[in-house]
Amino acid sequence: MHEGSHHISRRRENWQMIKTSENLEEMSLREKIEFLNETVQPEEGVIPSYILGDPTIYELEHKKVFLKTWVFVGHESEIPNKSDFMTRDLAGYSVIISRGSDDVIRGFYNMCTHRGMKLCRADKGNKSSFTCPYHGFNFKNNGDLVGVPLQKNIYGDRLDKSKMGLHNIRIESYKGLLFGTWNEEAEPLSEFLGEFKWYLDILIGRAKMEVMGPPQRFIVQSNWKIGSDNFVGDSYHTMVTHGSIAKLGMVPNATYSKKGYQIHTNNGHGLNLGTPNPDFAFPEELKSEYISNLSGEQFEVLSNLKNMIGNIFPNLSFLISHTKVKNQLISNTTIRLWRPVDVNKMEVITWFLVEKHASEDWKKRSRDSYILTFSPSGIFEQDDTEVFTDITAAASGPMPMLKQLTYNYTMGLHREPVSDFVGPGVVYNDKFSEANQRNFYRYWLDLMNS
Ligand code: FES
Ligand code: FE
Repeated sequence: MHEGSHHISRRRENWQMIKTSENLEEMSLREKIEFLNETVQPEEGVIPSYILGDPTIYELEHKKVFLKTWVFVGHESEIPNKSDFMTRDLAGYSVIISRGSDDVIRGFYNMCTHRGMKLCRADKGNKSSFTCPYHGFNFKNNGDLVGVPLQKNIYGDRLDKSKMGLHNIRIESYKGLLFGTWNEEAEPLSEFLGEFKWYLDILIGRAKMEVMGPPQRFIVQSNWKIGSDNFVGDSYHTMVTHGSIAKLGMVPNATYSKKGYQIHTNNGHGLNLGTPNPDFAFPEELKSEYISNLSGEQFEVLSNLKNMIGNIFPNLSFLISHTKVKNQLISNTTIRLWRPVDVNKMEVITWFLVEKHASEDWKKRSRDSYILTFSPSGIFEQDDTEVFTDITAAASGPMPMLKQLTYNYTMGLHREPVSDFVGPGVVYNDKFSEANQRNFYRYWLDLMNS
């Protein structure tokens, strides 16, 4: 994982030396992969811009990334009661996440096994069974087919309902975060998250957390990777993109976002820890709950936390930030999914999370703090999505190939990670580095090769 050991650049002068074709669409699958390997060079800090704008890449990453890996589908607290359910998108397909009458959370392909109709069209609700809107087949919320209208009369004894249950999808939870995958061979979620769990514990395992309200959703004309890239490692933009908050005096100075650590682990995950913080930005009365859920080192990080911004590969970003309300520092915790809709379009889905045992007053103020900053109408959110849209526009169409456009991701290549930080992973002292993005694109490229 050490960056110092990267191989020496074999950067080609000219992409046409590799391929006579300028058009990815015309290449065979093997040629596409070869072309990707020649042009995407995370260890050198060279990322070609066509990977954000080319429809062929988008299709390929759907198969190689989104159908292969774990993708976030929701938080357990969204379906707290027996028989609660919600429908979610998993890599472009609708799935039902259902808490059975037996309290077990299961995932099903939202497709009737009779003739393929979408079984459930509600966003969420509470149901012990689902009835198909086409011919009325009825499925229990554990997936079993239990009712077929006029069965005896029209099928005789020939229909075996036990073979027609809903198609199961693997759903696993880490501290309430539910992920699904279409890949039967995928490693267990816990292994996929690996050392990154140490940091996720601080994010969502520090106390019993619950989602407040339904997630907010909005469409941005942006490739999904720009969102992940921005959250996984781009603290640098904060000075400029969000410069107005320094001018307004909401933060001490323009380089406030530099101090802290940038950290990444295996499988493309990464985060940025803003420290130190002289004030405790969490509810004082929950300290004992935090201490019982965290190790001493994790609690130390939480106690000094100014903010925490990161991304679970591929597209679940998270954030703890804070604002001062009536002289008290109020943190807010959010997670957001950059859900790909098209090569140049994503749906941003954001969830606001709060400590379940916090006071109602704290919960309300924490929510206000979220709405002010990173909700769809928040000041930071609007700054960012402007940038995402413009980058996507410039990466679209034939220009990236014609001009062989690349981005520069070399920041911090000269630096060595530190070894005295309390948490796991590759850790850099100070957040202005692009090591996390290089790690993100390295894993993305590995999956594209798989
Ligand atoms: Fe569902 Fe026929 S398609 S009952
Ligand atoms: Fe930002």
